[in-house]
Amino acid sequence: MTDNAQTLEQIWESLKAGPRPTLTQLFDASPDRVEALTRRLDWPTGGVGEAAESTGMRLDFSKTHLDDATLQLFEQLEQVCGFSEAREALFSGGVVNVTEGRAANHGAMRGSGTDAETEEAFALLARMGMLVEAIHDGVLGKVKHLIHIGIGGSALGPALAVDALTRDLAKVDVHVVSNIDGLALEQAFAACDPATTLIAVASKTFTTIETMTNAASALAWLEKEGVSDPSGRVVALTASPEKAVEWGVDETRILPFPESVGGRYSLWSSIGFPVALAIGMEEFREFLTGAQAIDTHFLQSDGRANAPLLAAFAEQYYARIRGCQTRAVFAYDERLALLPDYLQQLEMESNGKSVTASSEPVDYPTAPISWGGVGTDAQHAVFQLLHQGTHLVPVDFIASVAPGDDLDPAHHKILLTNCFAQGAALMKGGNMSADGKDPARAFAGDRPSTTFLLDDLDPATLGALIAFHEHRTFANAVLMGINPFDQFGVELGKKMAKDIDAGEGDFDASTKALMQAAGLN
Ligand code: F6P
Repeated sequence: MTDNAQTLEQIWESLKAGPRPTLTQLFDASPDRVEALTRRLDWPTGGVGEAAESTGMRLDFSKTHLDDATLQLFEQLEQVCGFSEAREALFSGGVVNVTEGRAANHGAMRGSGTDAETEEAFALLARMGMLVEAIHDGVLGKVKHLIHIGIGGSALGPALAVDALTRDLAKVDVHVVSNIDGLALEQAFAACDPATTLIAVASKTFTTIETMTNAASALAWLEKEGVSDPSGRVVALTASPEKAVEWGVDETRILPFPESVGGRYSLWSSIGFPVALAIGMEEFREFLTGAQAIDTHFLQSDGRANAPLLAAFAEQYYARIRGCQTRAVFAYDERLALLPDYLQQLEMESNGKSVTASSEPVDYPTAPISWGGVGTDAQHAVFQLLHQGTHLVPVDFIASVAPGDDLDPAHHKILLTNCFAQGAALMKGGNMSADGKDPARAFAGDRPSTTFLLDDLDPATLGALIAFHEHRTFANAVLMGINPFDQFGVELGKKMAKDIDAGEGDFDASTKALMQAAGLN
């Protein structure tokens, strides 16, 4: 065993052997616990490089079991794992995606990269801005709708951001279609007037079967509905512009992005086109500003002062010391209804691995299963398990101080009081029966949560929130020694689907019977 591996093992042994005070004991022992474990992050609201007002969020980690002794051990772990070197490599265009031999340059898309990468990114952003503004100015005729076709990282980010930021009014009505199930596309067709609809084909590779099949059907729909030049209504968002040209998209409507930007990290690139079209270029730049502020914080702070790293410390603690197999996020904000789906791809596709970056098998848990929903709906559905089930689930609560609605302030007050009450109840526990003894009405308590309290949910704040989770995911990967930037786990199923389609391959009896029952062979 190398010295490093030995030290790592010792740190984990110390973490495992450490005392396990309850949350209530931790609060009792430390009057300044809330202050010590709360981080405030701020960012300007006026676009990249412009002086502007600021807004921010408060992250309260005090209801987790982290304490000074645990944090000291995690800070040692951070050193031994080479966190600052890995972070430096990430932002300086180093080959952090070792299995595919490339950098992960999503930071550069929002101004946090090397000069050359940032310059290229801003040139691509300017190109996208010109197209967005030309469309708003009517250069492509009247455009009222956009059907954005993509899947995975080419759909989840746009869907989240459009949904979160256009509740009031969108400049263009965006429909994101990812599922190959034709029902999804038919639903978008039903909501759009073909004469005023553009199609965005979003695919890093421009080969993904679901996306390319949906794109062909969208073109056929335009043609059938009498649109004279269907291809002239297509915009391609891709890292493979030559494939988009081959497919028939005019170069003037291809918005490229660098190959070194991973699919699930691509919202900042031209994959964000539908967002920019819906909210406007100025607001899209604000979205980037919020993300960039988190990059700066992540780059410039260490140990427990670094909020995404602190979140990763908590996650590692629960996965490895307390055996938690899942983590949950509940957004107490209707505009963030799609955030849990977005985080599932970000975290599970990045860190759901069984080998280290140097291809050694791991003997510890990697990414927990990420799940969640919207509060207060989830309270009336799945919170039973959080409060009384046998699984310990660390929970993130996310809420905004400023309401998203214009109704009676009672709505927002009930939303926030419920959010805070849930975190308090999970921690406190108790017994709800008259005599305080009924086991069915008992709450064990001591269940952890973290609360993200946003000042407001504007474009910059959404950018900050997403970038925070990207860095949290990266920090987790560094602490686990894995490469978060490849996703070979999706390939076997894709190949076998192709084999089934081609009538090739040696399938098991169950799969053969299913194929036969569905008339597939
Ligand atoms: O199959 C997984 C995946 O490669 C994701 O990583 C990616 O976001 C998605 O498919 C879509 O890929 P593309 O943008 O190349 O169509």
